[in-house]
Amino acid sequence: MPGVAWRWFNARHWNRFQFDLHDPPVPDRRLAMPPSIPALQIPADAPIARPEFLYGVATASYQIEGAIHEDERLPSIWDSFSATPGKVLNGDTGDGACDHYHRWESDVDLIANLSVDGYRLSIAWPRVMDERGRPNARGLDFYKRLLARLKLKGLQTFVTLYHWDLPQHLQDRGGWLNRETAYRFADFADLMSRELTGSVDAWATLNEPWCSAFLGHGNGHHAPGLSSLRYGTQSMHHLLLAHGLALPALRANDPASKKGIVANVGAFTPATDSAADIDAAHLGHTQHNHWVLDPLFKGRYPADLFRLWPGTEPLVLDGDMATIAQPIDFLGINYYFRTMVRADGKGAFVEAPPADVERTQMGWEVYPQGLRDLLISFKARYANLAPIYITENGMASDDRVVDGAVADPQRIRFLERHLLAVNEAMAAGVDVRGYFAWSLMDNFEWAFGYERRFGIVHVDYATQVRTPKHSAHALKAFLQARRTR
Ligand code: FCB
Repeated sequence: MPGVAWRWFNARHWNRFQFDLHDPPVPDRRLAMPPSIPALQIPADAPIARPEFLYGVATASYQIEGAIHEDERLPSIWDSFSATPGKVLNGDTGDGACDHYHRWESDVDLIANLSVDGYRLSIAWPRVMDERGRPNARGLDFYKRLLARLKLKGLQTFVTLYHWDLPQHLQDRGGWLNRETAYRFADFADLMSRELTGSVDAWATLNEPWCSAFLGHGNGHHAPGLSSLRYGTQSMHHLLLAHGLALPALRANDPASKKGIVANVGAFTPATDSAADIDAAHLGHTQHNHWVLDPLFKGRYPADLFRLWPGTEPLVLDGDMATIAQPIDFLGINYYFRTMVRADGKGAFVEAPPADVERTQMGWEVYPQGLRDLLISFKARYANLAPIYITENGMASDDRVVDGAVADPQRIRFLERHLLAVNEAMAAGVDVRGYFAWSLMDNFEWAFGYERRFGIVHVDYATQVRTPKHSAHALKAFLQARRTR
Protein backbone atom coordinates (compact mmCIF):
# COMPACT_ATOMS: atom_id res chain seq x y z
CA MET A 1 0.00 0.00 0.00
CA PRO A 2 1.63 3.25 -1.11
CA GLY A 3 0.46 5.12 2.00
CA VAL A 4 2.26 2.75 4.32
CA ALA A 5 5.41 2.77 2.24
CA TRP A 6 5.52 6.56 2.27
CA ARG A 7 5.10 6.73 6.00
CA TRP A 8 7.73 4.04 6.45
CA PHE A 9 10.14 6.07 4.37
CA ASN A 10 9.53 9.01 6.65
CA ALA A 11 10.01 6.91 9.75
CA ARG A 12 13.37 5.65 8.58
CA HIS A 13 14.77 8.83 7.16
CA TRP A 14 13.14 11.85 8.69
CA ASN A 15 11.56 10.65 11.89
CA ARG A 16 9.31 13.62 12.20
CA PHE A 17 5.94 12.03 12.03
CA GLN A 18 3.81 9.93 14.26
CA PHE A 19 2.98 6.44 13.00
CA ASP A 20 0.29 3.97 13.78
CA LEU A 21 0.78 0.38 14.76
CA HIS A 22 0.46 -0.85 11.19
CA ASP A 23 3.88 0.43 10.21
CA PRO A 24 6.44 -2.25 9.44
CA PRO A 25 8.57 -3.25 12.46
CA VAL A 26 11.97 -1.71 13.05
CA PRO A 27 14.38 -4.52 12.16
CA ASP A 28 16.92 -3.77 14.90
CA ARG A 29 15.33 -5.39 17.95
CA ARG A 30 18.09 -4.13 20.23
CA LEU A 31 16.28 -0.82 20.35
CA ALA A 32 13.38 -2.52 22.13
CA MET A 33 11.32 0.42 21.02
CA PRO A 34 7.94 0.26 19.35
CA PRO A 35 8.41 1.00 15.64
CA SER A 36 6.06 3.95 15.71
CA ILE A 37 8.40 6.07 17.83
CA PRO A 38 10.77 8.48 16.07
CA ALA A 39 14.40 7.88 17.00
CA LEU A 40 16.90 10.53 18.11
CA GLN A 41 18.94 11.20 14.99
CA ILE A 42 22.44 11.70 16.35
CA PRO A 43 25.45 10.73 14.26
CA ALA A 44 27.41 7.89 15.87
CA ASP A 45 30.69 9.79 15.55
CA ALA A 46 29.41 13.01 17.16
CA PRO A 47 31.16 14.15 20.37
CA ILE A 48 27.81 13.89 22.17
CA ALA A 49 27.64 10.20 21.20
CA ARG A 50 30.97 9.36 22.86
CA PRO A 51 30.73 7.04 25.86
CA GLU A 52 32.27 9.61 28.24
CA PHE A 53 29.60 12.24 27.47
CA LEU A 54 27.20 11.95 30.40
CA TYR A 55 23.45 11.66 29.89
CA GLY A 56 21.06 12.15 32.75
CA VAL A 57 17.64 13.24 33.84
CA ALA A 58 16.92 15.95 36.40
CA THR A 59 14.37 16.77 39.10
CA ALA A 60 14.09 19.01 42.17
CA SER A 61 12.90 18.23 45.68
CA TYR A 62 9.87 20.49 45.97
CA GLN A 63 8.66 19.59 42.51
CA ILE A 64 8.49 15.83 43.07
CA GLU A 65 8.73 14.78 46.71
CA GLY A 66 5.36 15.64 48.23
CA ALA A 67 5.14 14.52 51.90
CA ILE A 68 5.58 18.10 53.01
CA HIS A 69 4.52 17.39 56.60
CA GLU A 70 6.41 14.16 57.06
CA ASP A 71 9.37 13.28 59.29
CA GLU A 72 9.51 16.75 60.83
CA ARG A 73 10.09 18.52 57.57
CA LEU A 74 9.73 22.26 58.23
CA PRO A 75 7.69 24.58 56.01
CA SER A 76 9.46 26.12 53.03
CA ILE A 77 8.82 29.40 51.21
CA TRP A 78 7.17 27.43 48.42
CA ASP A 79 4.65 25.93 50.86
CA SER A 80 3.72 29.44 51.96
CA PHE A 81 3.72 30.91 48.48
CA SER A 82 1.66 28.16 46.85
CA ALA A 83 -0.85 28.31 49.73
CA THR A 84 -1.43 32.01 48.95
CA PRO A 85 -4.45 32.39 46.66
CA GLY A 86 -3.61 33.59 43.16
CA LYS A 87 0.08 32.73 43.22
CA VAL A 88 0.00 29.32 41.52
CA LEU A 89 -2.17 28.26 38.60
CA ASN A 90 -5.25 26.30 39.74
CA GLY A 91 -4.18 26.74 43.37
CA ASP A 92 -1.78 23.78 43.06
CA THR A 93 0.82 23.18 45.78
CA GLY A 94 3.74 20.81 46.32
CA ASP A 95 1.64 18.75 48.73
CA GLY A 96 1.45 15.38 47.01
CA ALA A 97 3.45 16.19 43.88
CA CYS A 98 4.84 12.90 42.49
CA ASP A 99 4.89 11.29 45.94
CA HIS A 100 8.56 10.57 45.31
CA TYR A 101 9.24 10.63 49.06
CA HIS A 102 7.43 7.28 49.23
CA ARG A 103 8.08 5.98 45.72
CA TRP A 104 11.79 6.72 45.53
CA GLU A 105 12.82 3.07 45.16
CA SER A 106 10.72 2.40 42.10
CA ASP A 107 11.62 5.86 40.78
CA VAL A 108 15.31 4.95 40.95
CA ASP A 109 14.53 1.75 39.05
CA LEU A 110 12.68 3.85 36.49
CA ILE A 111 15.75 6.09 36.06
CA ALA A 112 18.10 3.12 35.76
CA ASN A 113 15.77 1.61 33.18
CA LEU A 114 16.23 4.62 30.94
CA SER A 115 19.88 3.58 30.48
CA VAL A 116 21.05 7.07 31.49
CA ASP A 117 24.41 7.58 33.18
CA GLY A 118 23.34 10.01 35.87
CA TYR A 119 20.61 11.66 37.88
CA ARG A 120 20.39 15.26 39.08
CA LEU A 121 18.31 15.80 42.21
CA SER A 122 18.08 18.42 44.94
CA ILE A 123 17.93 18.27 48.71
CA ALA A 124 15.09 19.91 50.61
CA TRP A 125 16.86 22.08 53.18
CA PRO A 126 13.74 22.12 55.43
CA ARG A 127 13.84 18.31 55.64
CA VAL A 128 17.36 17.95 56.92
CA MET A 129 17.98 20.78 59.43
CA ASP A 130 15.89 22.21 62.22
CA GLU A 131 15.53 25.88 63.13
CA ARG A 132 18.67 25.77 65.24
CA GLY A 133 20.74 24.15 62.53
CA ARG A 134 20.65 20.68 64.06
CA PRO A 135 20.41 17.71 61.69
CA ASN A 136 17.09 15.96 61.20
CA ALA A 137 18.14 12.30 61.04
CA ARG A 138 14.94 11.10 59.37
CA GLY A 139 15.16 13.62 56.57
CA LEU A 140 18.85 12.85 56.11
CA ASP A 141 18.13 9.12 55.97
CA PHE A 142 15.82 9.65 53.03
CA TYR A 143 18.65 11.15 50.97
CA LYS A 144 21.18 8.58 52.21
CA ARG A 145 18.98 5.71 51.09
CA LEU A 146 18.16 7.41 47.81
CA LEU A 147 21.80 8.10 46.98
CA ALA A 148 22.84 4.59 48.02
CA ARG A 149 20.33 3.07 45.64
CA LEU A 150 21.38 5.36 42.81
CA LYS A 151 24.99 4.29 43.35
CA LEU A 152 23.93 0.65 43.49
CA LYS A 153 22.46 1.10 40.04
CA GLY A 154 25.73 2.59 38.82
CA LEU A 155 24.33 6.10 38.35
CA GLN A 156 26.35 9.28 38.76
CA THR A 157 24.76 11.60 41.29
CA PHE A 158 24.53 15.36 40.76
CA VAL A 159 23.13 16.95 43.90
CA THR A 160 21.87 20.52 44.06
CA LEU A 161 21.78 21.98 47.56
CA TYR A 162 19.33 24.77 46.89
CA HIS A 163 16.60 24.42 44.30
CA TRP A 164 14.45 27.20 45.79
CA ASP A 165 12.89 25.57 48.89
CA LEU A 166 14.24 27.95 51.53
CA PRO A 167 13.08 27.10 55.08
CA GLN A 168 10.28 29.51 55.97
CA HIS A 169 11.88 30.30 59.35
CA LEU A 170 14.84 31.83 57.47
CA GLN A 171 12.45 33.82 55.30
CA ASP A 172 10.84 35.10 58.49
CA ARG A 173 14.23 36.65 59.32
CA GLY A 174 14.55 38.27 55.91
CA GLY A 175 15.51 35.31 53.74
CA TRP A 176 17.97 36.15 50.97
CA LEU A 177 17.70 39.86 51.79
CA ASN A 178 19.45 39.06 55.05
CA ARG A 179 23.19 38.44 54.71
CA GLU A 180 22.95 35.93 57.57
CA THR A 181 21.12 33.51 55.27
CA ALA A 182 24.33 33.07 53.25
CA TYR A 183 26.10 31.87 56.40
CA ARG A 184 23.22 29.53 57.26
CA PHE A 185 23.50 28.11 53.75
CA ALA A 186 27.21 27.44 54.33
CA ASP A 187 26.25 25.54 57.52
CA PHE A 188 23.74 23.51 55.51
CA ALA A 189 26.38 22.72 52.84
CA ASP A 190 28.81 21.74 55.58
CA LEU A 191 26.34 19.34 57.17
CA MET A 192 25.28 17.79 53.87
CA SER A 193 28.80 17.22 52.63
CA ARG A 194 29.81 15.64 55.95
CA GLU A 195 26.78 13.35 55.99
CA LEU A 196 26.68 12.42 52.31
CA THR A 197 30.38 12.34 51.46
CA GLY A 198 31.25 9.54 49.07
CA SER A 199 27.78 9.22 47.57
CA VAL A 200 27.75 12.44 45.55
CA ASP A 201 29.69 12.82 42.32
CA ALA A 202 28.96 16.50 41.82
CA TRP A 203 27.60 19.16 44.17
CA ALA A 204 25.87 22.23 42.82
CA THR A 205 25.43 24.92 45.43
CA LEU A 206 22.49 26.80 43.85
CA ASN A 207 20.03 26.21 41.08
CA GLU A 208 19.39 29.29 38.97
CA PRO A 209 20.13 32.21 41.30
CA TRP A 210 18.61 34.46 38.60
CA CYS A 211 15.18 32.93 39.26
CA SER A 212 15.55 33.16 43.04
CA ALA A 213 16.67 36.79 42.80
CA PHE A 214 14.64 38.18 39.92
CA LEU A 215 11.47 36.08 39.95
CA GLY A 216 11.47 35.78 43.74
CA HIS A 217 12.44 39.34 44.69
CA GLY A 218 12.35 41.46 41.51
CA ASN A 219 8.96 40.73 39.97
CA GLY A 220 7.33 38.50 42.57
CA HIS A 221 6.35 35.64 40.26
CA HIS A 222 8.09 33.11 42.52
CA ALA A 223 8.42 32.68 46.28
CA PRO A 224 8.84 34.71 48.41
CA GLY A 225 6.87 36.98 46.06
CA LEU A 226 8.65 40.31 46.58
CA SER A 227 8.85 42.86 43.81
CA SER A 228 11.60 45.44 43.90
CA LEU A 229 14.67 45.50 41.66
CA ARG A 230 16.70 46.70 44.62
CA TYR A 231 15.67 43.52 46.44
CA GLY A 232 16.54 41.57 43.31
CA THR A 233 20.15 42.74 43.21
CA GLN A 234 20.68 42.44 46.97
CA SER A 235 19.23 38.93 47.14
CA MET A 236 21.40 37.95 44.15
CA HIS A 237 24.46 39.16 46.01
CA HIS A 238 23.61 37.11 49.08
CA LEU A 239 22.82 34.04 46.97
CA LEU A 240 26.17 34.25 45.20
CA LEU A 241 27.89 34.90 48.51
CA ALA A 242 26.20 31.78 49.89
CA HIS A 243 27.62 29.82 46.96
CA GLY A 244 31.12 31.12 47.67
CA LEU A 245 30.89 30.55 51.42
CA ALA A 246 29.76 26.95 50.88
CA LEU A 247 32.64 25.94 48.59
CA PRO A 248 35.39 25.53 51.24
CA ALA A 249 33.19 23.22 53.33
CA LEU A 250 32.27 21.13 50.29
CA ARG A 251 35.92 20.86 49.32
CA ALA A 252 37.08 19.96 52.81
CA ASN A 253 34.37 17.39 53.53
CA ASP A 254 34.10 15.73 50.14
CA PRO A 255 37.34 16.27 48.25
CA ALA A 256 36.70 13.64 45.55
CA SER A 257 33.50 15.24 44.24
CA LYS A 258 33.09 18.07 41.75
CA LYS A 259 31.75 21.41 42.99
CA GLY A 260 29.89 23.96 40.92
CA ILE A 261 26.76 26.01 40.46
CA VAL A 262 23.83 25.95 38.02
CA ALA A 263 22.78 29.05 36.06
CA ASN A 264 19.82 29.47 33.74
CA VAL A 265 20.79 31.35 30.63
CA GLY A 266 18.67 32.86 27.92
CA ALA A 267 19.25 33.81 24.30
CA PHE A 268 18.44 37.43 23.41
CA THR A 269 18.33 38.69 19.85
CA PRO A 270 17.43 42.15 18.52
CA ALA A 271 14.16 42.59 16.62
CA THR A 272 15.93 44.77 14.03
CA ASP A 273 19.54 45.62 13.28
CA SER A 274 19.20 49.14 14.61
CA ALA A 275 21.86 50.16 17.12
CA ALA A 276 19.14 50.72 19.73
CA ASP A 277 17.75 47.20 19.34
CA ILE A 278 21.21 45.65 19.34
CA ASP A 279 21.86 47.45 22.62
CA ALA A 280 18.50 46.17 23.90
CA ALA A 281 19.62 42.59 23.23
CA HIS A 282 22.93 43.33 24.95
CA LEU A 283 21.01 44.56 28.00
CA GLY A 284 18.96 41.36 27.91
CA HIS A 285 22.15 39.29 28.03
CA THR A 286 23.50 41.52 30.77
CA GLN A 287 20.43 41.18 32.92
CA HIS A 288 19.88 37.49 32.37
CA ASN A 289 23.32 35.95 31.88
CA HIS A 290 26.14 38.30 32.82
CA TRP A 291 24.49 39.34 36.09
CA VAL A 292 25.21 35.82 37.34
CA LEU A 293 28.24 34.71 35.33
CA ASP A 294 30.37 37.89 35.56
CA PRO A 295 30.60 37.75 39.38
CA LEU A 296 31.48 34.03 39.19
CA PHE A 297 34.13 34.30 36.47
CA LYS A 298 35.23 37.96 36.54
CA GLY A 299 34.65 38.82 40.20
CA ARG A 300 32.44 41.83 39.47
CA TYR A 301 28.91 42.76 38.50
CA PRO A 302 28.45 44.00 34.93
CA ALA A 303 28.37 47.81 34.92
CA ASP A 304 25.58 47.82 32.32
CA LEU A 305 23.25 46.12 34.81
CA PHE A 306 23.14 49.41 36.68
CA ARG A 307 22.67 51.35 33.46
CA LEU A 308 19.54 49.23 32.99
CA TRP A 309 18.51 49.47 36.64
CA PRO A 310 20.03 52.69 37.98
CA GLY A 311 20.40 52.94 41.73
CA THR A 312 20.08 49.22 42.45
CA GLU A 313 23.73 48.52 43.34
CA PRO A 314 23.79 45.93 46.13
CA LEU A 315 25.72 46.39 49.36
CA VAL A 316 28.95 44.45 48.80
CA LEU A 317 31.43 44.05 51.64
CA ASP A 318 35.21 43.78 51.29
CA GLY A 319 36.23 40.34 50.12
CA ASP A 320 32.77 39.27 48.93
CA MET A 321 33.63 39.27 45.24
CA ALA A 322 36.74 37.15 45.82
CA THR A 323 34.61 34.70 47.81
CA ILE A 324 32.13 34.51 44.93
CA ALA A 325 34.74 34.15 42.19
CA GLN A 326 36.59 31.14 43.60
CA PRO A 327 37.41 28.49 41.01
CA ILE A 328 34.76 25.83 40.47
CA ASP A 329 34.96 22.41 38.83
CA PHE A 330 31.91 22.79 36.65
CA LEU A 331 29.25 25.21 35.53
CA GLY A 332 25.73 23.86 35.11
CA ILE A 333 23.81 25.52 32.29
CA ASN A 334 20.02 25.41 32.05
CA TYR A 335 18.64 26.56 28.72
CA TYR A 336 15.07 26.75 27.43
CA PHE A 337 14.34 29.54 24.93
CA ARG A 338 15.14 32.82 23.23
CA THR A 339 13.64 36.26 23.78
CA MET A 340 13.55 38.69 20.89
CA VAL A 341 13.73 42.27 22.13
CA ARG A 342 13.66 45.86 21.02
CA ALA A 343 14.61 49.12 22.69
CA ASP A 344 11.78 50.73 24.65
CA GLY A 345 13.12 54.26 24.04
CA LYS A 346 13.69 54.73 27.78
CA GLY A 347 16.99 52.90 28.17
CA ALA A 348 15.49 49.46 28.72
CA PHE A 349 14.25 46.61 26.51
CA VAL A 350 10.87 45.06 25.82
CA GLU A 351 9.94 41.76 24.26
CA ALA A 352 9.16 41.75 20.55
CA PRO A 353 7.92 38.18 20.08
CA PRO A 354 8.52 36.86 16.56
CA ALA A 355 5.49 35.51 14.71
CA ASP A 356 5.31 32.09 13.10
CA VAL A 357 7.90 30.36 15.23
CA GLU A 358 7.57 27.00 16.94
CA ARG A 359 6.54 27.31 20.58
CA THR A 360 5.94 24.91 23.47
CA GLN A 361 3.06 24.62 25.95
CA MET A 362 4.81 27.32 28.00
CA GLY A 363 4.71 29.66 25.00
CA TRP A 364 8.50 29.47 24.93
CA GLU A 365 10.10 29.62 21.49
CA VAL A 366 12.03 26.54 20.36
CA TYR A 367 15.43 27.99 19.46
CA PRO A 368 18.26 25.44 19.69
CA GLN A 369 20.88 27.63 18.04
CA GLY A 370 20.57 29.96 21.04
CA LEU A 371 22.15 27.28 23.21
CA ARG A 372 25.05 26.85 20.79
CA ASP A 373 25.61 30.60 20.47
CA LEU A 374 25.48 31.17 24.23
CA LEU A 375 27.99 28.41 24.94
CA ILE A 376 30.37 29.81 22.35
CA SER A 377 29.91 33.36 23.67
CA PHE A 378 30.67 32.27 27.25
CA LYS A 379 33.89 30.63 26.15
CA ALA A 380 34.89 33.88 24.45
CA ARG A 381 33.86 36.09 27.40
CA TYR A 382 35.34 34.06 30.29
CA ALA A 383 38.96 32.97 29.96
CA ASN A 384 38.56 30.82 33.08
CA LEU A 385 35.18 29.30 32.18
CA ALA A 386 34.68 25.96 33.96
CA PRO A 387 33.77 22.73 32.14
CA ILE A 388 30.07 22.76 31.39
CA TYR A 389 27.24 20.34 31.99
CA ILE A 390 23.85 21.12 30.50
CA THR A 391 21.98 20.53 33.74
CA GLU A 392 18.51 21.27 32.32
CA ASN A 393 16.93 21.39 28.90
CA GLY A 394 13.49 20.28 27.87
CA MET A 395 9.97 21.39 27.08
CA ALA A 396 6.38 21.20 28.29
CA SER A 397 3.58 19.77 26.22
CA ASP A 398 0.00 18.80 26.94
CA ASP A 399 0.78 15.08 27.01
CA ARG A 400 -1.91 12.46 27.45
CA VAL A 401 -1.91 8.71 27.87
CA VAL A 402 -3.71 7.04 24.97
CA ASP A 403 -3.91 3.25 24.97
CA GLY A 404 -1.12 3.09 27.51
CA ALA A 405 1.30 5.25 25.51
CA VAL A 406 2.23 8.92 25.36
CA ALA A 407 3.23 10.30 21.96
CA ASP A 408 5.36 13.44 22.35
CA PRO A 409 7.00 13.92 18.94
CA GLN A 410 7.69 17.60 19.53
CA ARG A 411 9.81 16.73 22.58
CA ILE A 412 11.85 14.14 20.68
CA ARG A 413 12.69 16.71 18.04
CA PHE A 414 13.38 19.30 20.75
CA LEU A 415 15.86 17.06 22.55
CA GLU A 416 17.55 16.02 19.33
CA ARG A 417 17.93 19.59 18.05
CA HIS A 418 19.29 20.89 21.34
CA LEU A 419 21.72 18.00 21.60
CA LEU A 420 22.96 18.79 18.11
CA ALA A 421 23.36 22.44 19.15
CA VAL A 422 25.54 21.28 22.06
CA ASN A 423 27.47 19.19 19.59
CA GLU A 424 28.14 22.23 17.45
CA ALA A 425 29.38 24.18 20.46
CA MET A 426 31.71 21.30 21.33
CA ALA A 427 32.99 21.24 17.76
CA ALA A 428 33.71 24.97 18.20
CA GLY A 429 35.86 24.17 21.21
CA VAL A 430 33.49 24.52 24.18
CA ASP A 431 34.14 21.95 26.92
CA VAL A 432 30.71 20.37 27.52
CA ARG A 433 30.72 17.13 29.51
CA GLY A 434 27.11 16.09 29.76
CA TYR A 435 23.42 16.75 29.29
CA PHE A 436 20.46 16.30 31.66
CA ALA A 437 16.95 16.33 30.29
CA TRP A 438 14.44 18.32 32.29
CA SER A 439 12.68 16.40 33.56
CA LEU A 440 12.64 12.76 34.56
CA MET A 441 8.89 13.04 35.07
CA ASP A 442 6.02 15.52 35.01
CA ASN A 443 6.01 17.51 38.24
CA PHE A 444 5.00 20.68 40.08
CA GLU A 445 6.04 23.39 37.63
CA TRP A 446 6.26 26.24 40.17
CA ALA A 447 3.81 29.07 39.38
CA PHE A 448 2.21 26.87 36.69
CA GLY A 449 1.43 23.99 39.04
CA TYR A 450 0.73 20.57 37.52
CA GLU A 451 -0.71 21.77 34.25
CA ARG A 452 2.63 22.04 32.43
CA ARG A 453 4.20 18.67 31.74
CA PHE A 454 7.98 18.69 31.29
CA GLY A 455 8.65 15.00 31.97
CA ILE A 456 9.93 12.35 29.61
CA VAL A 457 7.82 10.15 31.87
CA HIS A 458 4.14 10.97 32.27
CA VAL A 459 2.67 11.12 35.78
CA ASP A 460 -1.01 10.52 36.47
CA TYR A 461 -1.34 12.53 39.67
CA ALA A 462 -4.53 10.76 40.76
CA THR A 463 -2.99 7.27 40.65
CA GLN A 464 0.72 8.14 40.64
CA VAL A 465 1.16 5.80 37.68
CA ARG A 466 4.29 6.63 35.67
CA THR A 467 4.19 6.06 31.90
CA PRO A 468 7.38 6.60 29.92
CA LYS A 469 6.58 8.88 26.99
CA HIS A 470 7.87 8.17 23.51
CA SER A 471 10.73 10.60 24.22
CA ALA A 472 11.89 8.35 27.08
CA HIS A 473 11.88 5.37 24.73
CA ALA A 474 13.79 7.34 22.10
CA LEU A 475 16.43 8.48 24.60
CA LYS A 476 16.81 4.96 25.94
CA ALA A 477 17.18 3.48 22.46
CA PHE A 478 19.88 6.00 21.61
CA LEU A 479 21.76 5.31 24.85
CA GLN A 480 21.52 1.55 24.47
CA ALA A 481 22.74 1.72 20.89
CA ARG A 482 25.64 3.87 22.12
CA ARG A 483 26.58 1.22 24.68
CA THR A 484 26.71 -1.56 22.13
CA ARG A 485 28.98 0.35 19.76
C1 FCB B 1 13.85 25.84 35.52
C2 FCB B 1 13.83 25.22 36.89
C3 FCB B 1 13.24 23.84 36.94
C4 FCB B 1 12.04 23.72 36.02
C5 FCB B 1 12.34 24.25 34.65
C6 FCB B 1 11.21 24.12 33.66
O1 FCB B 1 13.89 27.21 35.61
O2 FCB B 1 15.14 25.11 37.39
O3 FCB B 1 12.94 23.55 38.28
O4 FCB B 1 10.94 24.29 36.59
O5 FCB B 1 12.72 25.58 34.72
